[in-house]
Amino acid sequence: MKIARFSRLGFILAAAGSAVGLGNIWKFPYIAGENGGGAFVIVYLITVFGIGFSVMIAEMLIGYMGRIDSVGSFEKLAPQNKSTWKLAGFIGFTGIMILTFYSVVIGWIFHYISVALVSLPSSVEEAEYSFTQLLQTGIGTQIFYHTLAFLTTTIIVIKGIKSGIEKMNYILMPTLIMILGGMFIYATTLDGFSQALDFMFNPDWSKINSETLVTAVGHAFFTLSLGMASILTYSASLPKKINLTRTSLIIVGLDTGIAIIAGLILFTFLFQYGEEPSKGPGLVFISLPAVFYEMGSMGTLLAVLFFISLAFAGLTSAVSLLEPMVQYLIDRYKYTRLSASLLAGGFFYIIGILALLANTKEYSELLTFGSRNLFDWIDFITASVLLPLGGLLISIFIGYVVPKEQVRAGLKSSMNDIGFGVWYFVLRYLVPPALIVVMLNLLNIFV
Ligand code: TRP
Repeated sequence: MKIARFSRLGFILAAAGSAVGLGNIWKFPYIAGENGGGAFVIVYLITVFGIGFSVMIAEMLIGYMGRIDSVGSFEKLAPQNKSTWKLAGFIGFTGIMILTFYSVVIGWIFHYISVALVSLPSSVEEAEYSFTQLLQTGIGTQIFYHTLAFLTTTIIVIKGIKSGIEKMNYILMPTLIMILGGMFIYATTLDGFSQALDFMFNPDWSKINSETLVTAVGHAFFTLSLGMASILTYSASLPKKINLTRTSLIIVGLDTGIAIIAGLILFTFLFQYGEEPSKGPGLVFISLPAVFYEMGSMGTLLAVLFFISLAFAGLTSAVSLLEPMVQYLIDRYKYTRLSASLLAGGFFYIIGILALLANTKEYSELLTFGSRNLFDWIDFITASVLLPLGGLLISIFIGYVVPKEQVRAGLKSSMNDIGFGVWYFVLRYLVPPALIVVMLNLLNIFV
């Protein structure tokens, strides 16, 4: 039995800290931009609250009932098929794979905090040039900032659930919300705001196709930190008395709210200065810095605050990507927290360096395998294959493997009979087919 437990607010902040990450502030705006805005946003909201919310409760329940690392929790809840279902617990290790490139991206953000302080690029062309330079030739810079991201993440995890993860989220999450809140208020005073509102909420249904649906489901999982045992691992340290439905709803609400607010802020700034919303992954690192430059000294302030908030969001997610592996090493092999963190941290640190080298001119050939380089392979395999697979395993496990009475008992104080009926139905009959379609689609078997 664990001794360190989150407080109720501590858990909500930590889980929200995990969910709110680069996925919300960097990825959501650019995929919404690429997929035509309003209609995508509506599909995304339906998926997040329909599918994501149900899986979040299921994943929390596994950790809450198991009370141990992800592998141990699956074993404990399926005593008859222990050796088969313990394999599902290994989804926890996908987190560390994501962390390899996630840490590199946090490194880019650190670099952009210094760019914002020193000199912003004066045009989109210049911004594009410096971003490409960073990726292709800035090996030293990238390794330096990746090291910084690695150190911060690992040190927090070494400090443990209470004085590391919980404390970090107590400080960073409210700060993040305040910065974004302030920027949002400022954005509402600009002319571009009404255009941003229109872009994000006025649906043009002709923009929706099967690929949009797949992107929305995939992103719903990524942004809510589902399918890789981040939430499961945190839930093993939940306080005993907690309403899982309400807690999940708060986390999903915070995550969605922050994504929408980040989107509105970004699009307001872009529209205000006549930029396109559909620039893809470079939106935050290319279009936005150029726009901040146009805004003069106000722009410098906004740029610094923006990249700091992005770094905070990234770091609170990074610790949740490392913790599952660390908890596994501690619970199963009796490692000390220090050695478990250094071992798991060292792993993502080294692979992360290889991943960043794969984008450089010098090493790209060496680190490209078939159609993708190492960086893109890790991204693709984790997000497109392992993540939906993790979600599928969780929903099948709670929907079909763990006896219904046990599931009902675990949720006794979390939902009434009607609520349980609806949730159980969604988990059994809607989530698995949706995820199977997503996986087939993403693997390009369908499209
Ligand atoms: N949700 C985070 C984001 O939006 C990333 C993340 C943290 C994650 N833990 C996860 C994604 C577990 C999938 C699974 O950036």
